[in-house]
Amino acid sequence: MQTFSQISALHAAVEQWKANQQRVALVPTMGHLHQGHLKLVQYAKQIADKVVVSIFVNPLQFDRTEDFTSYPRTFDADCQLLVEANIDLLFAPEEQTLYPEGLMQATVVHVPGLSEVLEGKQRPGHFQGVTTVVTKLFNIIQPHVACFGEKDYQQLAIIRQMTHELLLPIEIISVPIVRYPDGLAMSSRNSHLSEPERATAPILAQTLRWASEQLAKGVNAQQVSLHTTQKLNESGFKTDAIDIVDADSLSPLHANSQRAVILAAAYLGKTRLIDNLVVKL
Ligand code: PAJ
Repeated sequence: MQTFSQISALHAAVEQWKANQQRVALVPTMGHLHQGHLKLVQYAKQIADKVVVSIFVNPLQFDRTEDFTSYPRTFDADCQLLVEANIDLLFAPEEQTLYPEGLMQATVVHVPGLSEVLEGKQRPGHFQGVTTVVTKLFNIIQPHVACFGEKDYQQLAIIRQMTHELLLPIEIISVPIVRYPDGLAMSSRNSHLSEPERATAPILAQTLRWASEQLAKGVNAQQVSLHTTQKLNESGFKTDAIDIVDADSLSPLHANSQRAVILAAAYLGKTRLIDNLVVKL
């Protein structure tokens, strides 16, 4: 595995591959890698000849400085996992490389609408930070395909829309959520959980399953959302949002909706966990 922090070195490697007609996949991450990230790598390896993983904790997408500074950084362990996964190239730039004009740079990539609802309403500016950095990574690496997890359902929808509307010649591949055997979705944030919090955490996924059964039985979405919130709060969570929306448009369910997605965000102590479940209607 080659590791680069500079754009020029990375370009040289990718250009060489492309000259040899090789298909290049990108898996963007913020590091502290787990099996969820590695599933994205596995997908990438199946659909491309060369796999680039990026590790960059993007300050622009954090709403509180505290969150950014406390975000877990485990670079050496990440490298080890990526070597074992047999990827071709790790791109790990410094902040200055991605933001030469500083974080107050004038140009941003914004997807109005989708970025401003649901999770975007709770975390103003977050998705703009994501789309701006992902665009930079797309421009630097110029992959044929890029893999994103369904764990961050709204992020995936926004990146799809951005790629489509900006005519970026990149295929977006989505990868299902990877969970622990007890159902908890894998996440870098899980490492912030205390032992008792970790024991409670699987209740989030269990409650989402309960909610999906209610929806399938025909209970109305508003009622399901209310009861899901109550159940989670009774189990020790502080629920931030339970939204049940059309899984394709992320707008309110309508008579012709084929699938709903239940999007959950809930605090356990200071840790904000997110999860989601798609339900056929
Ligand atoms: P990060 O949270 O590191 O996640 C990187 C990718 O891994 C995302 O596409 C995310 O959806 C996926 N992922 C995380 N946990 C997963 C799980 N349990 N199952 C499946 N996929 C999972 O998402 C980001 O970083 C950033 O916003 C980024 C896109 C890199 C831009 O900075």
